[in-house]
Amino acid sequence: MRVLSGIQPSGALHLGNYFGAIRQYVSLQDSNDAFYFVADYHALTSVRDAAKLRGYVNDVLVDLLSLGVDPERATLFVQSDVPETTELAWLLTSVTPMGWLEKCVSYKDKVQQGLPAEHGLFAYPVLQAADILLYDADVVPVGQDQKQHLEITRDIAERFNNVYGEVFKLPKPYILDTVAVLPGTDNRKMSKSYDNTINIFDEPKTIETKCKRLVTDSRRPEEPGDPALLESSALFRLFELFAPAERWVDVKGRFLEGGIGYGDIKKELAKLIIDTFAGARTKRAELVANPARVAELRKAGAERARAVARGVIARARQASGIAAPTS
Ligand code: ADP
Ligand code: TRP
Repeated sequence: MRVLSGIQPSGALHLGNYFGAIRQYVSLQDSNDAFYFVADYHALTSVRDAAKLRGYVNDVLVDLLSLGVDPERATLFVQSDVPETTELAWLLTSVTPMGWLEKCVSYKDKVQQGLPAEHGLFAYPVLQAADILLYDADVVPVGQDQKQHLEITRDIAERFNNVYGEVFKLPKPYILDTVAVLPGTDNRKMSKSYDNTINIFDEPKTIETKCKRLVTDSRRPEEPGDPALLESSALFRLFELFAPAERWVDVKGRFLEGGIGYGDIKKELAKLIIDTFAGARTKRAELVANPARVAELRKAGAERARAVARGVIARARQASGIAAPTS
């Protein structure tokens, strides 16, 4: 199966990105033909400083490599290294009804968060459809917030196929329910836009400080805890994800009966997070010290991705009449 996913280079990657996306990237690369890319065209909707954007693109490449995306097994590339993407986006946008984009919640959300109401942001789902359809993807691992974009991708593919004949495969989303939405330090969805993230490569000291700040109620250590918090508070959601299963059962039990304080759980959580990513942190330092290696991997990934993209764009051009007829 061809698995494909993209991640925007718009700032440091956080634990929500890890559990919602990257961890799946790594597990899916073993027995699938995986394509993962850094969505820099998409980031133009929010990053307006060229040097910053270049830096973020490189950071995401390095982060994905450090976290276990293996360039031998997966095709790892940068979206704009395959300019066929934007051509396909135009072919798709030409058959996309305005109404489909008008109902997209992510556009409304982002404008509400303060991003300018620009056409690129409005047309974002069409560009995303191009990303996916350009590689004949079967499965797209993403977080819950991307579900609507996947539905629109399928709708656009079907519409194009109805108009021009069978050109595109219909991709399916792959969303893990357990980590569909990971809360951040204030218990809202962990997101760069809410400034409530714990970043994967935050310094250990910063991870400790952020864990200390995780919002909880004012229960004292000896009091029995509120079971609803096991689901709603980031502290417990994170602890469950990072701790060994038997440790989680133990801490959960002591919280519910009374006998363990938030301070201790937070300290333990910080240590678990720091230890979990220790290996990745070392690998990251090695890659940062070797930019030529990263550039070489980027180039190789682009070549592999482009070879697939060229075949698909040729089909779409032929079908729509944007090409000399083949004899
Ligand atoms: P952000 O909301 O911080 O801007 P992105 O939109 O760039 O994050 O998300 C990149 C990927 O990580 C997407 O696949 C998205 O679904 C996933 N993701 C982001 N935040 C979370 C979260 N809090 N929980 C689970 N998955 C998430
Ligand atoms: N829109 C996605 C996000 O914000 C990133 C993305 C761009 C993507 N193109 C994609 C994800 C294609 C999956 C497939 O997270």
